[in-house]
Amino acid sequence: SSKMESITDILHQLFHTAICAAFPDITDPPVVIAVAASNPKFGDYQCNSAMPIANIYKQSGKKVTPRNLAQKILDNLPSHPMVEKCEIAGPGFINIFLNRDYAVKKLQAIFQNGVQPPTVERKKIIIDFSSPNIAKEMHVGHLRSTIIGETIARLLEFLNFEVHRINHIGDWGTQFGMLIAHLQDRFPDHLEKMPPISDLQSFYKEAKERFDEDEEFKKRAYDSVVKLQSFEPKHIKAWKLICDVSRKEFQKIYDRLDITLKERGESFYQTRTEKIVKELEEAGFLENDDGRKIMWGDESTTVPFTIVKSDGGFTYDSSDMAAIKHSFANRLQEEKADWVIYVVDSGQATHFQILFACAKKAGILDPKKHRVDFVGFGVVLGEDKKKFKTRSGDSIRLVDLLDKGLEKALDKLKEKGRDKVLTPDELKRAQESVAYGCIKYADLSHNRNHEYIFSFDKMLEDKGNTAVYLLYAFTRIRSIARTANFTPEKIKELSKKENISLEHEKEWKLGKVLLRFPDEILKTLNDLYPHHICEYVYEIATTFTEFYDSCYCVEKDSSGDIVKVNYGRILLAEATAMIMEKCFHILGLKPVEKM
Ligand code: ARG
Repeated sequence: SSKMESITDILHQLFHTAICAAFPDITDPPVVIAVAASNPKFGDYQCNSAMPIANIYKQSGKKVTPRNLAQKILDNLPSHPMVEKCEIAGPGFINIFLNRDYAVKKLQAIFQNGVQPPTVERKKIIIDFSSPNIAKEMHVGHLRSTIIGETIARLLEFLNFEVHRINHIGDWGTQFGMLIAHLQDRFPDHLEKMPPISDLQSFYKEAKERFDEDEEFKKRAYDSVVKLQSFEPKHIKAWKLICDVSRKEFQKIYDRLDITLKERGESFYQTRTEKIVKELEEAGFLENDDGRKIMWGDESTTVPFTIVKSDGGFTYDSSDMAAIKHSFANRLQEEKADWVIYVVDSGQATHFQILFACAKKAGILDPKKHRVDFVGFGVVLGEDKKKFKTRSGDSIRLVDLLDKGLEKALDKLKEKGRDKVLTPDELKRAQESVAYGCIKYADLSHNRNHEYIFSFDKMLEDKGNTAVYLLYAFTRIRSIARTANFTPEKIKELSKKENISLEHEKEWKLGKVLLRFPDEILKTLNDLYPHHICEYVYEIATTFTEFYDSCYCVEKDSSGDIVKVNYGRILLAEATAMIMEKCFHILGLKPVEKM
């Protein structure tokens, strides 16, 4: 087909065939394919299988040299239009050189069909992300989950999977006891008229203070939980009211950051939790431990799940058992998912390890059929490398953080004098693109396992691997075609007559980076680390700059009139922009035409 495909996958298949044919006496021989170091003499890709195969022979007493083995591999290599030539180097490396005509054909397809995803087997995937807790403020940890989760969801959607984005909000915890009791005291008429609470954080704080100090209040709070959990109508009404206030606040954040989620909080699983607890009990998985009912996972886990508390109540553990069952189970009203992904801070790694172990034990999760991933991430630190807090020690409200981002982004644009060039409308779009883009990108470009330091100054730098640098680079690349009066329609027309140019050394270098797109996507699909895509798009931008510095696309005379247009390069620039745009979409960055 004319679609871009994973180069390493194709090479893997070719070399697998060659190696099996060359060494029929070795079962399951190693096939090692890598992108070559960026020295043109090493070729573009490498096959490094000869050395491990030589070791296998040495172990069985045969004398072989890796160089001879490499030659045998090449003798058996089927030909393929993608591969120009192969050379043996050093002790037995095989350097692989790509064919330019093949590359032109693959990149050219972008103009007719757009940037298409590599083909994967369709699966149903549930991704649980964001998942803040009602009444407790949505904090920067939830922001990380929201940003990383959204990007993984976009990646999966781009690959045409069936994706369900689930917001597993904490809407059924014991905190509702004190919130409802406090609501009843503060606003006795709340059932008739909506109480004027918009700031649940301070409401929560008040309730918590009373809970800690007032024994009588504490007792009423406990009673309220019991009543709520047995669905007493007045308590349900008060609970809904509190949830709605939170929900509205969460939605503001989601709207600003362009996040889509379907709410399915802990309360959704309440009756399902009752059911699964009964099933686990009947199957003999529960053990009595000082009045609580616990369940052990496997050898890899050292703590059990608390399925039922000593007061008979359920826990975070039990509702997650109900949720995972609902995701995988194969009955009516259940999801029948193939893959479930949880995007939650690394502090909960153990919880999910036990969850997966217990789900396997209970026969809910079948490793042969299902995939589960815990996508953990490190904490967000302030510039002082301490936990990210306001000066007064409170946790930072996300709305304030986003507002601050807008303010700083505008400063940045003014510093560059953009307010004098752009219309107010364009300026506003650029401001939002930069503000939200830089917050998302700073998060995504760090390895998610590491903690990361939140710094507006760093993320708004216009050099290095930042959103600002990339958004500017993109705008510049897009404007190249525009200066030569090429609209997207005209580009499409042009691409039918002219080919992308990959002759010049720098053109070819850029072309090969662009061809890696499917591989970068599949790599990220495999390990769910979004920073791969950030590094890739940054590499595209810097390789483009190298190309642009040594190859003219549009030549102008001293009066600014166009004297010559290099069509092959206009096409190369446009293909670059299209692939960058796709990466931006996955990362949640919104490029603007002018900034
Ligand atoms: N609400 C939880 C928290 O804020 C995160 C929930 C994650 N999802 C899950 N299925 N446990 O810590």
